[in-house]
Amino acid sequence: MDKPKEIELKYMVFGCIMVILLLAISIVIFFIVYQKRLLAQQIKLQSVQHEYQRELLSSSIAAQEKERVRIGQDLHDEIGSSLSTIKLLINQLHYADPEKNPVIANIREILSNTIQDVKNISLNLYPSVLTKFGLAEGLQYLVTVLAQASPIIFSLEADDVTGLNYSEELAFYRIAQELSNNSIKHSGATNVSIKLSQSTTFIELSVSDNGQGFNYPELKGNGQNGIGLKSIEARKEMLKAEMRIDSSAGNGTCIVVRLPLLKTL
Ligand SMILES: Nc1ncnc2c1ncn2[C@@H]1O[C@H](COP(=O)(O)OP(=O)(O)OP(=O)(O)O)[C@@H](O)[C@H]1O
Ligand SMILES: [Mg+2]
Repeated sequence: MDKPKEIELKYMVFGCIMVILLLAISIVIFFIVYQKRLLAQQIKLQSVQHEYQRELLSSSIAAQEKERVRIGQDLHDEIGSSLSTIKLLINQLHYADPEKNPVIANIREILSNTIQDVKNISLNLYPSVLTKFGLAEGLQYLVTVLAQASPIIFSLEADDVTGLNYSEELAFYRIAQELSNNSIKHSGATNVSIKLSQSTTFIELSVSDNGQGFNYPELKGNGQNGIGLKSIEARKEMLKAEMRIDSSAGNGTCIVVRLPLLKTL
């Protein structure tokens, strides 16, 4: 009589162990699935946040550029043309002969310089060359202006790129402008080289100089990166491009922005 009872007890113990085991396995599986879902949700949330921030940046850059275009056009159309009219009127004055009237000669010279300044400022605010002739030509214009204003030797190799809309071209142009200005201001370089190229898979802009270089991670870590590099990061985000900064003390700086071209299958 004892034996079947013993067997029954053994079965019961075995059954209990099995139930506990099953329960434990279920809890572990539930925990793993829960963790996985949590992780997936976190990743999704992060990517939504990232996308939201990117869109916020894009629209603030777009608003900034729109305002620049408006100011640039107003400067050109209102002030620039008024100054040109004044210059024409002065030229018509019968005593405008610079030999006879040095004051008039001074006014004419100042006026000419101011007209050129207004033109430069409005072109800086609104690089109309981009809309007319595209990015390669825009960079050519940029290099010409910078080479006139600094002793640095600039070189440019620019392919005609296709497939970019105006705001993307403008973003590349602004990046090249800021990087060149940084080379002029901070690097002490004698040469700056700008390259724009397009392959089947990407469009790439690089600006390199042979100056003193800098430690970008350290600079960023100390919060010492100015508005310039931050705005480049923002434009890079807006473009959905990648950026590589190769720079170290004494080895010059090379900054590459690469925009992968989406393949439509
Ligand atoms: N080509 C370069 N060579 C050496 N140092 C550089 C170069 N580019 C940037 N830097 C360093 O990085 C710093 C941050 O550059 P960033 O463009 O962000 O700011 P900034 O030029 O000082 O001011 P701004 O806000 O007017 O652009 C510079 O102050 C400089 O120390
Ligand atoms: Mg700067």
